[in-house]
Amino acid sequence: MNQRVEIIEQTKGWVKEKLAHDYSGHDWDHIQRVHRNALLIAKDVEVDVLVIELAALLHDAVDEKLFLDVEQAYRDVRALLEQFAITTEQSEHVITILRGISFKGGQQPPLKTMEGHIVQDADRLDAIGAIGVARTFTYGGSKGHRMYDEELAVRDHMTAEEYRKNESTPIHHFYEKLLKLKDLMNTDKGRELAEERHAFMEQFLQQFLKEWNGLA
Ligand code: NI
Repeated sequence: MNQRVEIIEQTKGWVKEKLAHDYSGHDWDHIQRVHRNALLIAKDVEVDVLVIELAALLHDAVDEKLFLDVEQAYRDVRALLEQFAITTEQSEHVITILRGISFKGGQQPPLKTMEGHIVQDADRLDAIGAIGVARTFTYGGSKGHRMYDEELAVRDHMTAEEYRKNESTPIHHFYEKLLKLKDLMNTDKGRELAEERHAFMEQFLQQFLKEWNGLA
């Protein structure tokens, strides 16, 4: 095995173990899809693919929803990266991308590098389209939410606090968040891939509401 393959394999094993008990949708399958999406977007672009792969694989290993002590999670990631034959710049680059992606407060430092833009797009892509539909209902089900509540208003501007309180349904989540992701894509390729997934969600919602309301 060459060194690069070895690094990716080791990282995969490490992440798999870390996320082994997550059922919130940030599971290993999600990580694998983000990794694949990232490689797809990075194709034909002049970038440090190893940084992209590492950041894609590690992006949820520092998530505040999954790890109570986030700074400890960063130290763990750093310790992993230190074992690899990569430069300090590369490992700092990975950490910077993780910080930019995971911070949900709204005032996060925008990701400045192409590598960061690609990983963020890859993560957002996995929240929309058919996978987005499946993940949203799986999550709602795990929280005991109804599929839809026609008496609940769609909230356009939410604070992080309101967002977390979760007085919402999967259907609301599309309007409150998922339908907005297409316009937040950073890269051309990401935007192109998001278009198709976005159109699929719109079609799904149209059909869902038609059936919900008993319309022909
Ligand atoms: Ni993610």
